[in-house]
Amino acid sequence: MKTIRDIHALREVLQGFRQDGDTVALVPTMGGLHQGHMGLVRLASEYAERVVTSVFVNPTQFGPREDFENYPRTFDTDRRRLSRAGVDIMFAPTHEEVYPFGVENMTSVSVSELSTILCGEYRPGHFDGVTSVVNRLFNAVAPDVAVFGQKDYQQLAIIRRMVADLHMPIKILASPTFRDKSGLALSSRNRYLTDDERGRAGELYATICDCRDRYLGGEGDIKVLEKDGFERLAGAGFEPEFLTVRKSGDLSLPDEDSRFLVVLAAARLGETRLIDNVLFELGGS
Ligand code: PAJ
Repeated sequence: MKTIRDIHALREVLQGFRQDGDTVALVPTMGGLHQGHMGLVRLASEYAERVVTSVFVNPTQFGPREDFENYPRTFDTDRRRLSRAGVDIMFAPTHEEVYPFGVENMTSVSVSELSTILCGEYRPGHFDGVTSVVNRLFNAVAPDVAVFGQKDYQQLAIIRRMVADLHMPIKILASPTFRDKSGLALSSRNRYLTDDERGRAGELYATICDCRDRYLGGEGDIKVLEKDGFERLAGAGFEPEFLTVRKSGDLSLPDEDSRFLVVLAAARLGETRLIDNVLFELGGS
């Protein structure tokens, strides 16, 4: 595996791949890699001959009071894991490489509306940071395929919208959410949880599954589901931010004929903000 830090060198290696007729998949990450990330890498290698994984802790998607400074940086372990998984290139650019004119003067890419609801309401500017960096990564790599996790469902929906709206010739693939035994979705941020919090963290997934089951069972009043879900989460020591049922395509509220749906929730557990979601189909088999 090659570890590459600048776009020029990256493009030279990619050009060689292209000359051999190989397709290229990109897996964007911020490092602190766990099995969920490695699932994305596996999916990527099923769809393309060459896999590039980017590792870049993107400053523009962190709010001023968020954990940019403390975000896990485990470069050497990440490199070993990616190499063992058969990744061709670990692209780990510097800030200057990604934002050559500085972050204050950067060209921003913003997917309106989808970026301001749900998580966007609690993390203003977060998704603009995500789309702005993913755009740059797409331009640097020009992949045929890019893989994102279902775990960050709103992020996935926003990237899909951006790619469609900007006519980007990139296929976006979604990889299922990897969880631990308690149901807790794996996340680089889970290492912030205390042992006691870890013991309770599985309640978030249990709560959204319950919400899904009740919706499937005929409870169509999202306000009722939200209220009950909030109470259950608060009882387990969470501070819930939102819990809702949305259409899986555009994250708007369901109407009578909506079929493909998603329960989305975000809640704080101590210092850690956890998000999760579960997709389901009404009238499906
Ligand atoms: P990061 O949190 O490192 O996640 C990288 C990718 O891994 C994302 O697509 C995310 O959805 C996926 N992922 C994380 N945990 C997962 C899990 N438990 N199961 C399945 N997939 C999981 O998301 C980002 O970084 C950044 O916003 C990024 C897209 C790299 C832009 O900076």
